[in-house]
Amino acid sequence: MIPAGGLGTRFLPATKAVPKEMLPVVDKPLIQYAVEEARAAGIDSFVFVTARGKAVLEDHFDHATALDELLAADGKEDLRRAAAATALSAGMVAHVRQPAPLGLGHAVWCARHVVGATPFAVLLPDDLVLSEQPCIGQLLDAHREHGGNVVAVMDVPRADTGRYGVLDVAADDGRLASVQGLVEKPAPADAPSTLAIVGRYVLDPSVMAALDAQEPGAGGEIQLTDAMARTVGDVPFHGLRFEGRRFDCGDKLGFLEANIACALARPEMAAAARDILARFA
Ligand code: UTP
Repeated sequence: MIPAGGLGTRFLPATKAVPKEMLPVVDKPLIQYAVEEARAAGIDSFVFVTARGKAVLEDHFDHATALDELLAADGKEDLRRAAAATALSAGMVAHVRQPAPLGLGHAVWCARHVVGATPFAVLLPDDLVLSEQPCIGQLLDAHREHGGNVVAVMDVPRADTGRYGVLDVAADDGRLASVQGLVEKPAPADAPSTLAIVGRYVLDPSVMAALDAQEPGAGGEIQLTDAMARTVGDVPFHGLRFEGRRFDCGDKLGFLEANIACALARPEMAAAARDILARFA
């Protein structure tokens, strides 16, 4: 599942008419990185949670026959392949509407009838992760071993805990932490640890059931973290320190950093990008 129903206010005015999830990092919209990560991990069925003004997301992952024919006729094979590769298979994609941006938990709950009573993966498109093995694939491996809920985590400076969902850790082997509680956006002094959740989850269906309560939490929003917290003790719950580098693309500087990192990771543009950076540094 890919929640994309938020307003993206931190990117105004860019996001007044263009969904945040469609902002390009180099030449691909943010949301495409999330879809490619999921596909590389073997996920082939997608639910997008969208909202008013986000219809362009549907088109992006659809076939574009006229464009395809034009590029083929012009012999522009590379561009044709790049455009065609974004199309998702027939019947493997559903778009669900979130009628109002009431929070991430609410966005996930809006997809409850499509997801059904099975474990499901959630990828937040504004967290871009560059890694050897897809981040969500690392979580799926841990889920196969341990079941229950598995969330991607990273160590953050204590001063930053107020920006994240934070784990209360029962045991920690340095890679996998078992969770005994969760707090959404705790003040640094109140944070039970500095292990913060980033936007990748494999969740037990009981989280969806917990969302039925529709209780607002931090910031008056219906928080996914609160629903996950309600399942602690009922199902196994782990935080995985994933291998890879995460960029917070919901934030302007994080987005800029992601653009630089992705340009430098592309063999055909790395040298030129390095020259540009040297000129401005
Ligand atoms: P954010 O809180 O970072 O996104 O949500 P936002 O609210 O759109 O951005 P700002 O803070 O106003 O700039 C993370 C992800 O959860 C989705 C967003 O679309 C984003 O992909 N989300 C958030 C929803 O789908 N619905 C919501 O009600 C809130």
